[in-house]
Amino acid sequence: MTIVNKANKELIASIEEKNKDLEYYSKKIEELTIKEERNRVSQDLHDTVGHIFTSVITSLDALPFLYRADQKEAEKSIKEISDLTRNGLNDVRKTIHQMSPTSHRTLVESVTELIADFMKHTATDIQLNVEGEATKVNERAKFAIIRCIQEGLTNAKRHGQATCIKINISFKQEELIVLIDDNGNGCNELNLGFGLRSMKDRISALAGTVNFDSKLNNGMRITCNIPMAKEV
Ligand SMILES: Nc1ncnc2c1ncn2[C@@H]1O[C@H](COP(=O)(O)OP(=O)(O)OP(=O)(O)O)[C@@H](O)[C@H]1O
Ligand SMILES: [Mg+2]
Repeated sequence: MTIVNKANKELIASIEEKNKDLEYYSKKIEELTIKEERNRVSQDLHDTVGHIFTSVITSLDALPFLYRADQKEAEKSIKEISDLTRNGLNDVRKTIHQMSPTSHRTLVESVTELIADFMKHTATDIQLNVEGEATKVNERAKFAIIRCIQEGLTNAKRHGQATCIKINISFKQEELIVLIDDNGNGCNELNLGFGLRSMKDRISALAGTVNFDSKLNNGMRITCNIPMAKEV
């Protein structure tokens, strides 16, 4: 009897121990999920808010000159800035509601729209080239790629004062390659800030790699390689 009792006690103790372990790990998973989600939301806010402000500031800076030169064009530009800000607010709202702004559109359609918007508001020549047969890219990868291009464009304008940016999307059997090339000032030493670090995190999360290549007075080239078979 005492042997059975002892065995029972040991069993109960071991179950309690295992329950504690389970509780600990489920708490850990919850903490990690919250952390990941917070990271995602702060990255999205950084990308949308930073991108919109860059476009608005560039347009506003040009406005006094435009107003002196052509009042009618200036009025048109004011309307465009107002539309841009309104769209930006919608973007921020979407992020807050954690909705994907890319849904219902293909990657190339979303990138084309992003480029058209940026060209309109920053007087930058942006050329998009698509190679290979466009295959379906899942929402997660699409969202990450769009955010990377958005940051690449913002940086090219903000830091490089680029006038021309080339984007190449290459659909290969094994991988998807995205190149963002600007003709701006470039830089010799790259200290990653939030923008480029988020770019790395996002592409790493898709099992891909990012390379930054820049030299002073020689623009910047960003290369993203994302494996197709596994994640895209
Ligand atoms: N296209 C570019 N041309 C020249 N320098 C660049 C370019 N992109 C990035 N850099 C340099 O790399 C640095 C890091 O860029 P990153 O996007 O990580 O941070 P940031 O733009 O300074 O700030 P944020 O965290 O708001 O994005 C920049 O401060 C800048 O010096
Ligand atoms: Mg940046």
